[in-house]
Amino acid sequence: MSKVLIIGAGGVGGVVVHKCSQVPDVFTNIVLASRTPSKCEKIKQQILKRRSANIETAGVDADKTPEVVALIKKHNPKLVINTALPYQDLTIMDACLETGVDYLDTANYEPPGEAKFEYKWQWAYQNKFKERGIMALLGCGFDPGVTNIFCAHAQKNHFDSIRTVDIIDCNAGNHGHAFATNFNPEINIREVTAKGKYWDKGKWVETEPMALHKTFEAPELGPMEIYLMYHEELESLCRNLKGLERIRFWMSFSQNYLTHLKVLQNVGMTGIDPIDFQGQKIIPLQFLKALLPDPASLGPRTKGKTNIGCIIEGVKDGKAKELYVYNVCDHEDAYKETDHQAISYTTGVPAFIGAMMMLQGKWKGQGVFNVEQLNPDPFMGELLVRGLPWIETVSFDT
Ligand SMILES: NC(=O)c1ccc[n+]([C@@H]2O[C@H](COP(=O)([O-])OP(=O)(O)OC[C@H]3O[C@@H](n4cnc5c(N)ncnc54)[C@H](OP(=O)(O)O)[C@@H]3O)[C@@H](O)[C@H]2O)c1
Repeated sequence: MSKVLIIGAGGVGGVVVHKCSQVPDVFTNIVLASRTPSKCEKIKQQILKRRSANIETAGVDADKTPEVVALIKKHNPKLVINTALPYQDLTIMDACLETGVDYLDTANYEPPGEAKFEYKWQWAYQNKFKERGIMALLGCGFDPGVTNIFCAHAQKNHFDSIRTVDIIDCNAGNHGHAFATNFNPEINIREVTAKGKYWDKGKWVETEPMALHKTFEAPELGPMEIYLMYHEELESLCRNLKGLERIRFWMSFSQNYLTHLKVLQNVGMTGIDPIDFQGQKIIPLQFLKALLPDPASLGPRTKGKTNIGCIIEGVKDGKAKELYVYNVCDHEDAYKETDHQAISYTTGVPAFIGAMMMLQGKWKGQGVFNVEQLNPDPFMGELLVRGLPWIETVSFDT
């Protein structure tokens, strides 16, 4: 018997509930709770149309630790899966500590008033989780998440030492809107308007937003323009990969997306400081979020594929070696299976697999973990059969 509590009924949470309901022998009972209970009920009904499942729904404001504590005490889950926003990470971790329940999330904590994500806030929970005898698994989506696992797999099964890693996230999906973001607009725009940063020979090198770019031939997608960005997995991977000299993260954007973003930035619509508007304080980015399409509504209209993977160079048996490991995910296939497009799917499936690893005891520990610190093999095996098959190509320098 394993009951899970999933907090956050957006695109990612929806996929996690769908996938968990496909494996009832592991996820015998599912509780889905979120700020807007009707969204939980909608997901539950979508699933019940496909199969029977033990799903309960509830309302919760996860910014308030006592509310999360009360919810955990009421349902007594083995694991809390956080698919709400990064702002709720610490309040939910506090509730897990108080109740002695394991924790998993897909995005690292970011203070609402400062567009800066860093692991320091969550890593600071290491001793508290250890002393309480419980486990927190951080960043178990695709990137971070599967990209970290790809690196752990490379380190364990392909290399004696890894020299460089380039993580490349391409999306050739088309939703037909003039402008929309594929996941929470506020989080997405904060991420892409930040300065770029990569790790080179032990130091962080900062770049202007979107300043470094190149064309990448993505398998099954074709040529994509990719832009160097800072992304949270760089912070843990530069600590956990042996011999690493350089790690960078690249993401594809269409010219149309960048032009819209530039105009919005130029007129101040992406700001996170409150402004006075007709006697009220409003945050421009939150107002913009209210105008933009809900990412969950993009599912039925998005066509095309994503390709996310890692190009890893290093040394094996004294020879220079390169590994390219990636997954291609089709937006329409993802929608057919889970009522959500590929961005939610590629995040929700790894969260579900991570939860399964923890509930089955294949991944266990006491303290706070990034996914690359755990054995990648069972997770890589599950990816192949749970909807995110990966392909790898290897070449040796002759
Ligand atoms: N690692 C990866 O690969 C990856 C990729 C994409 C996204 N992510 C992360 O996945 C998470 C979910 O993304 P998403 O696209 O599903 O976002 P979303 O569609 O905006 O969903 C977020 C959900 O959380 C709920 N929520 C927000 N604040 C809450 C609170 N205080 N209490 C309870 N519920 C609250 C929202 O409720 P309302 O409906 O009431 O607003 C919404 O249902 C985000 O943290 C995002 O950064 C990770």
